[in-house]
Amino acid sequence: MNQLSQFIEGIPTAELHLHIEGTLEPELMISIGKRNKVALPYPDAESARKAYNFSDLQSFLNIYYRATAVLLTEEDFYDLTIAYLKKAASQNVRHVEIFFDPQSHTRRGVTFETVIKGIERAFVEANSTLTLSTKLIMCILRHLSEVEGLEVLEKALEWKQWIAGIGLDSAERGNPPEKFQHLFERAQREGFLTVAHAGEEGNAASIKKTLDTLHVSRIDHGVHCMEDNSLVDELVLRQIPLTVCPLSNVRLQVFKNMKQHNLKAMLHRGLCVTINSDDPAYFGGYIKDNYIEAAKALMLDRDDIIRLAQNSFIASSLSETHKKLYLNEIIRYAGHEYS
Ligand code: HPA
Ligand code: ZN
Repeated sequence: MNQLSQFIEGIPTAELHLHIEGTLEPELMISIGKRNKVALPYPDAESARKAYNFSDLQSFLNIYYRATAVLLTEEDFYDLTIAYLKKAASQNVRHVEIFFDPQSHTRRGVTFETVIKGIERAFVEANSTLTLSTKLIMCILRHLSEVEGLEVLEKALEWKQWIAGIGLDSAERGNPPEKFQHLFERAQREGFLTVAHAGEEGNAASIKKTLDTLHVSRIDHGVHCMEDNSLVDELVLRQIPLTVCPLSNVRLQVFKNMKQHNLKAMLHRGLCVTINSDDPAYFGGYIKDNYIEAAKALMLDRDDIIRLAQNSFIASSLSETHKKLYLNEIIRYAGHEYS
C-alpha cells in the first residue's frame, strides 16, 4: 500500500450519504432471506455479486428494492445496521448520518416501528461500544406521490427523538423536486434538517430547482452542477455541501470511469465536496475505498484528502463544538503522522 492510501485509511471522517439498505452485503441478504423464508433470484452471494451490473440508476434501484424484501423483522434491521456501523468505525469514520427508506418496507407490510426500532437498537449499541456517533435521516421515495410521502412524514413526527432529518431519494428522472415542495416546507417547519438527491442523473437545472423550491441544507450527489457556472458560483458562495459518491457514480455510469470523474475539479473550484459510499454493498466499496479509488484515478494529494475529510465534518449537522473537536483531530493526525 502506498503512503497516501495509508494516510487515507487513518484520517478521521464523517459519512453523510449512506443508504442503510444499500449496505446489505450479499452474504447477509442470503442468510436473512433463508431465516425469513424469502426467495431470492440468487442461489448464493457470489452469483448475486455477479448480477450487480448496472446501466443507470433505475437498473440499480430495481435490484436494490428486490433485495430489501428479505428485511422483515426488528432483528433484520438491527443486524444490517450494526454490521455497517462496525465497518464504518473500522475505517475511522467518527460520525455517520444514515438514510433509511421506510416506504420501501411499509408497502411490503413491515411496520415503521419495526424498521426504526431495529436501527435504533444498533445505534444505541454503537454509541457505547464503537468510536462513532450516529444520526438518522428518513428519505422520501420520489417515485411515489407527495401524499404518500406526507403520510410517512407523520410517522416521523411520532419518532422525532430518533430522526434528525428528511431526505429525498429514488428515481430523479420524471420526479422533479417541486413535487415535494409542501412536504419539505412542513419538514422544515417541524425543525428537521433537510437534504435531497439532485444532479445525479438529473442536470444542473435539477440542482438549482432543488435549492430554490426545497431549500435544503445539502445536495446529495450534485455532480452535474459543473455544467452551469452561475450555479457553481452560488454553491461556492453559500458553501452548500455536495455529498459525492465516486464509486456509485462510476457503477451507475454517471461517469465512464473514475478518471473521468469531476470530483477533483469540483474540489479545486472551491465547492464544499465530501466523499461518501452511497450503497457500498452494491458499488464495490465503503467510504475509504471511495477515497482511495478517487485519489488514485484523479491523482489527489494529501492536501486534497485533508480538505475532503474537513469538509465531511463541516457539512455535517454536528454542533459547532463537535465539529471543532474533529477538525482539531484531523490537524493533529496530519501533523503528527505524516508531515
Ligand atoms: N440515488 C437515488 N436513490 C437511491 C440511491 C441513489 O444513489 N441509492 C439508494 N437510493
Ligand atoms: Zn444516494
